[in-house]
Amino acid sequence: MSMERLNIAIDGPAGAGKSTISKAVAQELGILYLDTGAMYRALALKAIRLGIDPNDASRVVPMLPGTSVSVRSEGGVQRTLLDGEDVSGEIRTQQIAKGASDIGVIPEVRVKLAECQREIAKNADVVMEGREIGSYVIPQTPYKFYVTASSDERAARRLRELHAKGLELDKTHGQMKAEIEARDHTDSHRATAPLIRVPDAVYVDTTDMSLDEAVNFVLARIRRKS
Ligand code: DC
Repeated sequence: MSMERLNIAIDGPAGAGKSTISKAVAQELGILYLDTGAMYRALALKAIRLGIDPNDASRVVPMLPGTSVSVRSEGGVQRTLLDGEDVSGEIRTQQIAKGASDIGVIPEVRVKLAECQREIAKNADVVMEGREIGSYVIPQTPYKFYVTASSDERAARRLRELHAKGLELDKTHGQMKAEIEARDHTDSHRATAPLIRVPDAVYVDTTDMSLDEAVNFVLARIRRKS
């Protein structure tokens, strides 16, 4: 007998509040939280460390077989491991965010990471956060959300987040907004598994919502279905 897993897909562009909502929902339901962006970021970090341009498929693809990206949950907090090394802190820069978006265009990268993510979804109840979780990684799940907000609001939130960590202190709102919009464009226009809003995903616009409201809204929709 196969047991149905509770798999929740939360997709959307950068800075929409996906991580905060996904973590809170996972905690409330007592299930695993998986930040798939961290896996793309880890691969980008490895490429950059090796002096490989994350856009350069001819050098990135040969790097893949000898590379392991794995995740571990420590008290609800995800640790991301690159070839066994904990890189959770190091992957949080804007340079790595852009590298992750670029490396994610390469189909072989997507296949490798999606396989690993499907394996996790098969074996655990999980809230999985990304760009194409509901459209490509686990499209069979009935629990799909598309979380977004205006790019102004997303830039403001991302800047506050980074500034709170002492990062990107001299970046302006305008620069951050341009970076976020460039990343949205790359993520939405790639050929393999782009960021799209699938028709059966619940649409959540967090521009004028508090975090609590967004979390409660998502939880209510999950509970209504289960
Ligand atoms: O969610 P994030 O900001 O950490 O993601 C960084 C980049 O990684 C994002 O701009 C595109 C890529 N990514 C992806 O292609 N697919 C995912 N499921 C998650 C992230």
